[in-house]
Amino acid sequence: MTGSFAIKSIPTSPIDGQKTGTSGLRKKVSVFQQPNYLHNWVQSLFSSLDGLPGSTIALGGDGRYWNKDAIRIICRLAAANGLARVKVGHNGILCTPAISSVIRAHDLYGGIILTASHNPGGPTNDFGIKYNVANGGPAPETVTSAIFKNTATISEYNYAVVPDADHAADPFAAVDLSVKGETTFSNVDGPSFVIEVIDSADDYVTLLQSMFDFAKLKALFARPDFSFLFDAMNGVTGPYGHRIFVDLLGGKPECVMRGEPLEDFGGAHPDPNLTYAAELVAKCDPKQNPQAPDMGAASDGDGDRNMVLGKGFFVTPSDSVALIAAKAKEAIPYFKNGLKGVARSMPTAGALDRVAAELGIELHEVPTGWKYFGNLMDAERAQICGEESFGTGSDHVREKDGIFAVLCWLAIVAHESAGKDALVSIEDIVINHWKKYGRNFFSRYDYEEVETKGANAMMAHIDELQANMNAARGSPDEPMALDPDFSTKVALADNFSYVDPIDGSEATGQGRRFVFTDGSRVIFRLSGTGSSGATIRLYAERYEPDENGQLVNAQAALKPFIELALKVSKLEAFTGRREPTVIT
Ligand code: G6P
Ligand code: ZN
Repeated sequence: MTGSFAIKSIPTSPIDGQKTGTSGLRKKVSVFQQPNYLHNWVQSLFSSLDGLPGSTIALGGDGRYWNKDAIRIICRLAAANGLARVKVGHNGILCTPAISSVIRAHDLYGGIILTASHNPGGPTNDFGIKYNVANGGPAPETVTSAIFKNTATISEYNYAVVPDADHAADPFAAVDLSVKGETTFSNVDGPSFVIEVIDSADDYVTLLQSMFDFAKLKALFARPDFSFLFDAMNGVTGPYGHRIFVDLLGGKPECVMRGEPLEDFGGAHPDPNLTYAAELVAKCDPKQNPQAPDMGAASDGDGDRNMVLGKGFFVTPSDSVALIAAKAKEAIPYFKNGLKGVARSMPTAGALDRVAAELGIELHEVPTGWKYFGNLMDAERAQICGEESFGTGSDHVREKDGIFAVLCWLAIVAHESAGKDALVSIEDIVINHWKKYGRNFFSRYDYEEVETKGANAMMAHIDELQANMNAARGSPDEPMALDPDFSTKVALADNFSYVDPIDGSEATGQGRRFVFTDGSRVIFRLSGTGSSGATIRLYAERYEPDENGQLVNAQAALKPFIELALKVSKLEAFTGRREPTVIT
């Protein structure tokens, strides 16, 4: 089919609050639906990019409510800004790691992802948009601040319209996103424009197949003593999960639960953690379900996060990335030549550090946000990266990748169990890892939608506390007391900052941390991804080298540190919150 369009310049004026956070712009659907809201942001994006005319970008989303409407608007802006082609995911769907793989596989200019990740969807919930650059990763600060600057001064946007007198209707309205293939439109004002509806999974699945030994994974699925359950949480990964775990690996169709992508995620909060994936957690608990699978896994709304469970056993994301790094060379063909380096975000527990030390490779500690791993991966200084926030990934794409992490764990179980009469359980694999490296107990307390004023006041109070502690110190090595009743002293009290070793860019104010003399840590941060109010995150970590002390519950192991953190921060007094919203 072909059609034609004309370019019209439509007057607009700046709209407040279009600053892009850690992972793009996330707001309520009703905010996005305001006249010109999406148009302003996308035009500001296009205006900030050099060499855009004639280029191709990828476009797709997690299928949440308003996804398809937004795609049509963006195509109209793309055509009118001189782009040659937009590769749109089938039905508007492309999971976040898949869009990264499409950008990389076809050397595209970049891509636009329509997602609010794990935030609830539907008409009264969240929508989001984010831009990824040519390496397939989230736009760096230089790009996001240029976009924001443009949103403050925008006065018009370029829009594709039908080339007739009234110029009103959408010239692309007839493009059916459920039909794969190309539609070319001639432009009465210049070069033509193509909308290409692509398969949402082809490039991504081909990439994953090149990284893992699918025959070996298939043999694991065929074992009578192995069962597997994947919870797609009604997010975008359902169809990908079916294709990989069922069609390619031979799992039963029931091994994918909540596998149908829904615009409102079935009313669920599509975040794979112990709180929001409680149904999966219960199904994987042999006390509640005699048929509990040997491995459970979940991914979030847009498919970049993951949670991995054994039978009644939770693998913390900090342990998960450490274990994947430890086993990578032997269990995962993609890493058969070994690793040069690994990286984790600052609040992520240090289990990975111990693996890096053992392997004799570089370990990088970056601020929270997947974008900070991009330069390290491009420079081949880190191949496996992970965050405590249920993010795990590698340099095969420039986003974290939920299904990749699940395949890594399947590969580890397959490898450990190969040739053995009985399956080696995930629990045993992790416990053996702790025996060798020690265990880093970790927990995070989230206080969501706290009043911004109280949250900021608490952070100011912590700054003052840290300043006083540092000022009272006799020498830079002298341990500092955080509380007279707490015997373990503090070796470091600061607000984390990071200088990117590749481009020298600096990120400051990335989290107040108290590092104790025994290596334990307590960290306070404000989330950069919330859509209303402030979210306070309190992270606690303690290292236990002695295997006799490793098998206790993490909450019990961390209790003294968490109580101390709550006391010295005066969190309850500042926020009125007695209990966290979520504990992971
Ligand atoms: C997103 C980002 C991650 C980040 C997480 C939590 O998933 O991609 O890199 O760790 O959000 O960020 P926050 O600022 O809310 O703690
Ligand atoms: Zn996500």
